[in-house]
Amino acid sequence: MLPTKVFIFILICYRATADVNDRYYPRYHLAPPYGWMNDPNGFSEYRNEYHLFYQFNPNSSLVPGIAHWGHAKSKDLFRWEHLPIAMYPDQWYDKGGVFSGSAIVENDKLYLYYTGNVNNPDQYPDHQQHQVLAISTNGINVTKQVINPIINGTEYQPDFRDPKVWKYGKTYYMVLGNSFHDNDTNSTLGRALLYTSKDKTQWNFASILDESDGSLGYMWECPDFFELDGRFVLLFSPQGIQPSGYKYRNLYQTGYIVGNFDYKTNMFTPITEFVELDHGHDFYATQTILDKAKRRILIAWMDMWDQNYVEAEDGFTGQMTMPRVLSLDKNNRLIQRPVKEIASLRGRTRFSGRARAGAVIRLRDKAAEIHIKSSPNNDLDILIESSNASNSVLISYNYQRGLVTLNRGGKDGVRRTKWRPESDKLHLKAYIDASSIELFFGNGEVTFSSRFFPTGAVKVRIGGSNDVESITVFDLQRTI
Ligand code: FRU
Repeated sequence: MLPTKVFIFILICYRATADVNDRYYPRYHLAPPYGWMNDPNGFSEYRNEYHLFYQFNPNSSLVPGIAHWGHAKSKDLFRWEHLPIAMYPDQWYDKGGVFSGSAIVENDKLYLYYTGNVNNPDQYPDHQQHQVLAISTNGINVTKQVINPIINGTEYQPDFRDPKVWKYGKTYYMVLGNSFHDNDTNSTLGRALLYTSKDKTQWNFASILDESDGSLGYMWECPDFFELDGRFVLLFSPQGIQPSGYKYRNLYQTGYIVGNFDYKTNMFTPITEFVELDHGHDFYATQTILDKAKRRILIAWMDMWDQNYVEAEDGFTGQMTMPRVLSLDKNNRLIQRPVKEIASLRGRTRFSGRARAGAVIRLRDKAAEIHIKSSPNNDLDILIESSNASNSVLISYNYQRGLVTLNRGGKDGVRRTKWRPESDKLHLKAYIDASSIELFFGNGEVTFSSRFFPTGAVKVRIGGSNDVESITVFDLQRTI
């Protein structure tokens, strides 16, 4: 006889595979087994496995609902195993949602910090948010602590959320997103608050790391703060930035400010402007960890609020980007490179060599890694072609204008940014999955992450009139 819990778990997994239609379900990106996924949460390494939790609605793929924490683990960041739901909205302080948060690992325990959301529809403000701690001693079962909430944010309501925690020396640090009323401009502005603790449960306000002057929106979601190559990076997802030229075209953005930080005074001194981190349509609510190999790995929700993508009909919504390693270059730009583990997914080399204009390479099962090398002095047009033209993606480099473009067609299909190759060749890596594309230009200094929904067989077509000096297309194996 199977214990009841195991039986129910098997039933849930069966239901997941039985319900989700495969046509757009990712082959190698983490997506929910069913239901709705948004932000990555509690990204951590525990007992030699990566754990990733996420905002999850098990009850519907059509709406975010009341957030739970979904949970998966992996040894290599691609072969994910779904685990039982880690947290339900079952306490007075999180009954309106187990909102986003992060994890630290200490003494073989997983400490999960998150925001408990409480909705009060008939009052002002209509919701309240407090910070909460839960602990797992086996990487599966999670216990919410009796002392919760650990930070009662009465003076920072209603938007006070998304704790990201780390340890430095003997002190624990937590960065939080908040919005405040600015009396000078009579407006609501976003900011990042820093808290410190000596024991992981008692927290004190330490400083305001940075705040919007009006140009950076009304709320900063999912802040992250870390040291990288000698500087500090404040990474966050501001809401309320207006589009400007090629920039800020999505509903909400994700970007970063680089600066210096003094652990004695807790003061952050920015040395750059805010820079958008990705130029595609679907990149939000990032979270990073420093793994045991000392890599700063980033993962983002590869989706955007209010999109209503067609996959919802198939029983799931949302997926994560592929994990990327971050570094900072000498111009204080964040560089993103796919983690090296992606190479372990490579199957057959479908094509390798020079490709004439007009050449077509057919992909297997919509999952491929493409490496391109071409002349920096020629235009480049690569079409990722689906049986339906409106579900294809055109990638192009315009040499005259120094511009790269991703066009997924349809309304608001174009995203572009200024970029010129910084070496003697144009290098591009593209990753295609059943409903996504990720582009890494050059060294990873420009990326695009977008969803698209190809139907039928997917092909790579060399457009324009120039040959491509070298193109290699690898099949990527299905891992999920
Ligand atoms: C970001 C976000 C977070 C919040 C969570 C709720 O996408 O709005 O600020 O914690 O999603 O699901």
